[in-house]
Amino acid sequence: MKKIVNPLLNWYIQNQRFLPWRKDKNPYHIWVSEIMLQQTRIEAVIDYYYRFMKELPTIESLANCSQDKLLKLWEGLGYYNRARNLQKAAQMILEKYNGQFPKSYEKILALPGIGEYTASAIGSICFSLKEATVDGNVLRVYMRVNNCHDDITNLKVKKQVREKLISIMPEDSGSFNQGLMELGETICIPNGIPKCDICPIQNYCKAFSKKTYLELPVKSIKKEKAEEFYTILLFLYQNKVAICRRNESGLLHNLWQFFSLPSSMTLLQVKEYLNTNHIEYQQLKKSIHYVHIFTHKKWNMNSYIIFLKNPNQIQSVTWVTLEELEEIYALPGAFQPFKKVIIEEMINDDEA
Ligand code: ADE
Ligand code: SF4
Repeated sequence: MKKIVNPLLNWYIQNQRFLPWRKDKNPYHIWVSEIMLQQTRIEAVIDYYYRFMKELPTIESLANCSQDKLLKLWEGLGYYNRARNLQKAAQMILEKYNGQFPKSYEKILALPGIGEYTASAIGSICFSLKEATVDGNVLRVYMRVNNCHDDITNLKVKKQVREKLISIMPEDSGSFNQGLMELGETICIPNGIPKCDICPIQNYCKAFSKKTYLELPVKSIKKEKAEEFYTILLFLYQNKVAICRRNESGLLHNLWQFFSLPSSMTLLQVKEYLNTNHIEYQQLKKSIHYVHIFTHKKWNMNSYIIFLKNPNQIQSVTWVTLEELEEIYALPGAFQPFKKVIIEEMINDDEA
């Protein structure tokens, strides 16, 4: 394993992708980018990163911005607790460390939203700490190079990989860690055949010589996602749509959504619901069915478009124009397809 260090470092130094957060080693830049990159592809992160840094260029500006503005900047990235924790950590850095990002692994790890992976990434990239970033990419490369069939979902296995990597860590730990991750993202890829013909560590790779790379890494089978059913009522009145804030706790808390009911309803059931609640409408029609997949949940959503006669007949909603929905309110990805439907509906309405 030690033999991979130099070829990997040379490869990374010569071939690393240009990414906006690689321009300097400012821990604020590295931190925000690493949090955005969790669960999200690099290409999807770049625009969000530029926008975020334009609006919130310093730890202090992040600590002091409104939660609505923060969530709006995060809209579509998902896992919104990441944004809330970024802000909590920024506030803590201001209070405890005078606005200076801490430089020790333990202090970085103690910040909200920062786990072993992120603390190691920031620590190695910004401060050359000898810590290992063990993410899915690194685990895959490691298991292939060593032709190791251990289950990577086992935390003991992950710990062993981390210790082994720390034991061979060079001075330039940031480049080594990023090299391993980047190799996993671009060459030793997860789906499809790895690009062994252009891999800088092919000579030292046991999975290459034994042709076992497609079997690796081994993961125990995940349990099924819990499925939930909803009916989304898209209430429209003139050029506005009704939205409401989600609960203060639970999945997507405090974000915005369309009016929703917690079961799958037929057109007839929706009619009954509207009649029972004395909601008069001009038009009611079935719209899209959309299934949104979260990490541990699956939302199965039916939707209906309802043009109301009187906007005051539904309580606890906020009436907004499409422009306001676009600019001000953070609408999670799970509801974006419905926004699209409404945009189309309003355009048709204008033409009619
Ligand atoms: N994926 C997540 N963080 C990364 C980094 N710093 N370099 C390469 N790939 C990454
Ligand atoms: Fe992955 Fe192939 Fe490189 Fe081995 S030789 S590390 S399997 S890309």
